[in-house]
Formats: sequence, structure tokens, C-alpha cells
Amino acid sequence: KIGISVYDQYDTFVSEMMKDFNDYATKKEEETGVAINIDTYNASASQSTQNSQVENMITEGCDVICVNLVDRTDPTAIIDLAEKNNIPVIFFNRELVEEDLERWTRLYYVGAQAFESGIMQGELAAEAFLTDQSLDKNGDGIFQYVVLEGEAGHQDAIVRTEYSVSTMIDSGVEGEKLGYAIANWNRAQAQTKMAQLMSQFGDSIELVIANNDDMALGAIDALKASGLTKDEWPAVIGIDGTVGLEAVKNKEMIGTVYNDKEGQADAMLNLAYELSTGSDLSDLNLIDGKYIRLPYARVTCDDVDSYMEGDTE
Ligand code: GAL
Repeated sequence: KIGISVYDQYDTFVSEMMKDFNDYATKKEEETGVAINIDTYNASASQSTQNSQVENMITEGCDVICVNLVDRTDPTAIIDLAEKNNIPVIFFNRELVEEDLERWTRLYYVGAQAFESGIMQGELAAEAFLTDQSLDKNGDGIFQYVVLEGEAGHQDAIVRTEYSVSTMIDSGVEGEKLGYAIANWNRAQAQTKMAQLMSQFGDSIELVIANNDDMALGAIDALKASGLTKDEWPAVIGIDGTVGLEAVKNKEMIGTVYNDKEGQADAMLNLAYELSTGSDLSDLNLIDGKYIRLPYARVTCDDVDSYMEGDTE
């Protein structure tokens, strides 16, 4: 019996990962003949709600608990509850600090390495600028950019932005930051913020670096609403390979970085299964006995087809 609590069931990446998790669980049941029961809870962005949900999962007799923390700096109540009841916890996607993960032996983390996605995004942006002169609208040899950031304090927001920009510069492209806005991974918020950035910086924006695909699409919504023609748009780049794939295919985005939700869902299911059945974890290649991190991948219109629905497994 697996209990799961997600920080927000309407988050695109997390909900798609959950769908994959359930599909892998069905496959695993077929393979092993072991019934897998999954109870999924939505914490609706409240850490105290999530803490009560974990308490509930323990009362309900879950063998293992998977937690997508609301506040990644506040896992204490969950860790204490789990340790007291000796139920292993797999944290995923929203990474707690190492000191917290070290607080008890039966705590694990499944996710990715945030800096890797930033590096790939920076490489893609640099390659686009160096190969397509039309992206340098004012012809000054500098890529003028704005950033749409995910939640303040999220490892993937802070680290992606930093590495994306530094990699672009290391790849030989001079960048100039015009502005940024926090849009919490959210398409509608990104549209509003992008409209504001456009009214401030007009057509001097040559690149929109978005920390995820939903926000990249929000930027595109704003561009469409502005009445600019497509060749007047800045380049737009995302991360996740979820809702952005279609936009990469039709060249509204110059690229995205695939955040391997299938790999993460599969790894989490296997880890949950081994923890529940008391088997040995040695085949799972845990880093430091605690971490599983799946690699990201660069996606452009040349290879986007292999990432589109149904082709990624
Ligand atoms: C990131 C992902 C975002 C959002 C966030 C939620 O890894 O790229 O789109 O889902 O996790 O924690």
C-alpha cells in the first residue's frame, strides 16, 4: 500500500508524473502478481494539510509514503512521524536539503539534477543565437533576455536560471538581462508577467528563458495577444518537455529540456515496491544509499517527435 501526497495536483509536470506512476504500478502488478494499492492526496499548497495527510496514510497502514513536499525546507513533521512509525519515505521532485534527508536511514529522494537542465537550456539558447542571425533583432551581437522564474525558493528555479545564463555566456554568447518575473510554474501568471515585461522593454526582448514549459507557453500567449507577427517574436525556451513539445514542433519555441517524468515515476515505483516488500535495494543504484536522479535531455524540433505522447517509453 503506497500513500502519495503531491504539493498541487494541477501542476502539469507532477500530474503527468503521477499518471506514469500509476501506469507503471499496473504493469508491475501484472508482472509480479502482487496487488499494489495507491492512495493519492492533494496537499493544495498547504504544508500542514500535507502533514495531516501523511498522518492519515500511516493510520491507513501504508507500507511506504511518497511526498512531493509543499515547503521543501519544512519536512520535519513528516520525518518525525515516519521515523516514529518506522515507515520509509520517498521524497520526490521538490528536493529537501541533504541534512534533512540524512536525519533518518529510511528517507530517500527521487528527482533530477537541477543544474543539468540549466546547462542544457543555456547550450540550446547559445546554439540558436550563433546559428540564426535573425534572433539578434537589433544586430548588436548581444542576446537581450528576460527570465520567467518558477517558485521562489524552489531548487529548480534558482539553479536553472543561474546555470542557463552562465552556460550561454560560457558558450560564447554575450547576454544582457533586461528583467525577470516570478510566475510560479504557471501559464496564466506567466502570460500576465510577460505582458508587463513587454510593455516595459518592448521589442528589445530577444530571448525568453522560462524555468518550465508552462511559463514558456504563457509567454507565447502574451506574444500572440500582442499582435506581433511570429517573426517579430523573441526566441522562447522552456524546460520539462510537457506542454512545450507541441510548441517546439511548430517552432514557436526554439527548444526545451526533457525532465524525465517516466524515468522518475518508474524509479519511484521500483523503490517503493522494494521498500514495501522488504527486498534488497542493491539493483536500484542509489547514490549515497538515498538518491535516484534521472538525467535531463535536450529537445529541439529535430528530435521532438520522439518525445511526443506515446513515444517516450
Ligand atoms: C519542476 C518542474 C516544474 C514544476 C515543479 C514543481 O521540476 O520543472 O514544471 O512541476 O517541478 O515542483
